Parts: sequence; structure tokens; C-alpha cells
Amino acid sequence: MQEITRDVVIIGAGPAGLTAARRLSQTGKTVAVLEARDRVGGRTWSDTIDGSFLEIGGQWIAPEQTAIQDLAAELGLELFQRHRDGDSVFIDKEGNRHRFTGDFPVKPETLEEMRKLRAELTRLSLEVDPAAPWEHPRAAEYDEITFDAWLRAQSDDAEARLIIGNFISGAMLTKPKHSFSLLQAIFFGASAGSFENLVDEDILLDKRVVGGMQSVSIRIAEELGSENVFLDNPVRELHWEDTAEGAPATVTAITDHLRVSARHAILAVPPNLYSRIQYVPALPRIQQIAHQHHSMGLVIKVHASYDRPFWREQGLSGTGFGYYNVVQDIYDNTNHRDERGTLVGFIVEHDAEKVWALPEDERRETILNSLAEYLGDEARNPLAFYLSDFGAEEWTRGAYGTSYDLGGLSRWGATQNQPVGPIFFASSDIQGFGYQHVDGAVRIGQDTAARILEADRAAQ
Ligand code: FDA
Repeated sequence: MQEITRDVVIIGAGPAGLTAARRLSQTGKTVAVLEARDRVGGRTWSDTIDGSFLEIGGQWIAPEQTAIQDLAAELGLELFQRHRDGDSVFIDKEGNRHRFTGDFPVKPETLEEMRKLRAELTRLSLEVDPAAPWEHPRAAEYDEITFDAWLRAQSDDAEARLIIGNFISGAMLTKPKHSFSLLQAIFFGASAGSFENLVDEDILLDKRVVGGMQSVSIRIAEELGSENVFLDNPVRELHWEDTAEGAPATVTAITDHLRVSARHAILAVPPNLYSRIQYVPALPRIQQIAHQHHSMGLVIKVHASYDRPFWREQGLSGTGFGYYNVVQDIYDNTNHRDERGTLVGFIVEHDAEKVWALPEDERRETILNSLAEYLGDEARNPLAFYLSDFGAEEWTRGAYGTSYDLGGLSRWGATQNQPVGPIFFASSDIQGFGYQHVDGAVRIGQDTAARILEADRAAQ
């Protein structure tokens, strides 16, 4: 067992942990980053599979997500825009395919209901402070209502509810609408600037990093040096002490190979994994309880790559929506200056469970048939086909991120960013602006580093 001492030990080499480590290291603090996996990046992961470069995890950056844009620029990384020229495709309940631009090709009365729901969710999301949704005057009330019940109370139009509700449930939280609250839904809108920003795919899915989003983490790890980033080192135990205010505390993170003692620890893992670690002594009652109320959603990110982006030849953008289809939305995910054309699609919630339950051949056929419904038969024969499976990854256990169960956000949210003695918490999933996004991970990483520096200054 190797024993080392640092100013700060960081658990988790995802964007949040690495951003914090970089900031601390830039101010002269010594750090050790302990990572369970054999790679850095966490839920950002870029790899070449069957000759196609794929973004297996997080990838898109929205215009208002300035923290990740600034960090990418500092690291010398370039961004490029998602291809979006051409018509989009909408597949209706009967399986009919419609080309469209602008408004969804649904009945005028459904469109009107969609506008109503959209306006109301936008209004509500603008009332919420993303940094403290629990402080909304009606937080407890909004946190008792399921998003589904709220939508039903607003509109009798099932299709309008399905489409508008999906911008939060299927597309973001990847959980059924009955399993989370109205407060959680409008907080998501607030965390993106407004609900409007979630509805427009040209905003939310605007840019990507040339060379992949994981390169943000890879570059930071290179800066920190291999002597400070320890892969294959899941933290099993965290020993900590709570000293009198101002007195130096210590914390020791223990893996199978290492003991790292430090003044502070940053727990930069998704909240659903907090309880994988044994705390000595146990965490206070409120954290032990609160940590049980976060859970991951479930989504399969589908990748299919072809010799060329053939859909563009038909004047199609590669964007498609089919709320009754297995793959509920698709986008052109062709890489920067790549000859190959790549599509990405998403299978969410119950559909993801059903698809995983199929035999492998049938699963592939089902998914490719669904892609062909959007873009024609050529979609059935990709050069590379891959399904991102973060639900099966021990050190994530779902996708895209965690959210609270009903009532959890108003009841426990205010505790999520409070340090416990020398232990600070940092994850995109407990961040306000940029929640569940790489931008949020970067923001909370920077913020946590600043809070540690402040605590050290106060203790001097
Ligand atoms: P993250 O989960 O990335 O990192 C945590 C790290 O902690 C991991 O490396 C893990 O292995 C490690 N760890 C866990 N337990 C440990 C232990 N006990 N000891 C040591 N290490 C431990 N975002 C976005 O902005 N745009 C997008 O397009 C998408 N799309 C998307 C698709 C998919 C499929 C996923 C899964 C996610 C996204 N996201 C996204 C979300 C985005 O990837 C996510 O918000 C950030 O990666 C979160 O960064 P964190 O550092 O907070 O956690």
C-alpha cells in the first residue's frame, strides 16, 4: 500500500473532479485524483469503433454553456457545429413519415396545445433560481405534483403532452413523467437558461469538441501529470474528522493500492454512487438519508456510421422525431472533416429496458429498422453500429445523470452542496446552471476549488 499526502484528494476523474484539480493545482495546491476506471472522462468517453470515431458519452455544448466553452479554449481545443441543414423528419402515431421544417407537423389544435404548454413551462422555469430551486415560494407544492399529473391538468391533448413532456422526461431526465415532480422539471428548464432552450435542438445540441469531449479530461489529466492522477483506483473508504471551526482537518482516501491523506477531499462522483464508499465515521444523518433519494435515468445512445452522410443527398438534415418509435429522436453526428456519415439516436426509459431484453441480433435489427423509418433503407447497413451502455457501467449505473425522486429536491436539495467536515461534493448532478451537463460539471468543479481556497484562507 503506497501512502501519499496532498493538500486535496479528488475522487473521480470526470470533468468535475478534473476541473477542480486543475484550478487547485494552478494556485499551487498539491492534488491527487483517484479514478475507479482505467481512463479519465467519466461520462464523457470518445473512442474509435469499427473505424468510426464515436462520442459514447456527453458531447454537445449549448451557446449559453460558456464554462465548458472557455475551458475548451484554454485547453487549446476547437469546437464545431452540428450539421443541421435540410428538412427534419417526423414519424406520426400511424407510422407515417413527414418532412418538415419549423413547427412539428401535427394537427393545428395539438400545435396550439403544445404552444400553451411550452409557454407555461417557460414561464415557470424563469421563476426558478437554478442555484436554489428549493427556495421557490411554491417549491414544496410543485415538488409534490408529478410532472405527468401537472401536464394532464393543463391539457387534454395526449399528443401535445407526449411531445412537450418528452423534452424533460425522455430527452433529459430519461425517466417516466410520473416518477419526478413538476419542480424537478422546471428546475431543469432553469438550469438550461429557460425551458425554451430545451425545446430547440439547435440550441441544446449546438456544438461539439473537435477530437471528442473526452479530450477535455484527457488534456487536464496530462497537465496534472501521471504522478497526480491514479487510474484503476476506486476509493473504498474515506476516513475523515470534523474539527473545531478553523482548525485543520484531515481526510484519508483509501483504495486497494493507495492511502492518500489530505486537508480536503472532493467527492466528484455521481450522487447515486456516494454510498459505494464506506465513510469512517459514517456521514451525518441528513446526508445518509438524502443520498438515498438520487437515482439515474436510463437511455441507450445509438451510433450508426455509414460510408457517407447519405441522408444529406435527399435534402435531409438527419434530425428526426418519432415519439411512438423505438428510437425516439435522431441527429446527424458526423465528425469534423470526416468522410463517414454518423447518426446518433436515443432509446429511453421503458423502451431501453425492452430493447436490452432482446437477443443481440434482434436488438440490432429492431434499432436499424427504426433508423430506416426515418431515413430510408440505406440506414439498415451501417459500417459501424454501437450502443452506449452506461447502465451496465459499474462506475455510472445509468444515464445521463441523477435526479431526485418525488419531493426530494425541495426536501434535500439545499444539503447537496454543503461540505461535511473536510469533504466537499462536486458533480454535474448537484449543480444549478448546467445541471446534468458537462458545463455544469466544469462550473461546480471551479466553484468547489474556489470554496476550498477560501476555506484555507479563512483558516490561516
Ligand atoms: P462523471 O460521471 O463524468 O465522472 C465521475 C467519475 O468518478 C467517473 O470517472 C467515475 O469512474 C469516477 N468514480 C465513481 N466512483 C468512484 C470511486 N468510488 N472512486 C474513484 N472514482 C470513482 N452532457 C452534455 O453536456 N452534453 C451531452 O451531449 C451529454 N450527453 C450525454 C450522453 C450520455 C450517454 C451520458 C452518459 C452523459 C451525457 N451528458 C451530456 C452528461 C455528462 O456526460 C455529465 O454531466 C458529465 O460527464 C458529468 O461529469 P462529472 O465529473 O460530474 O461526473
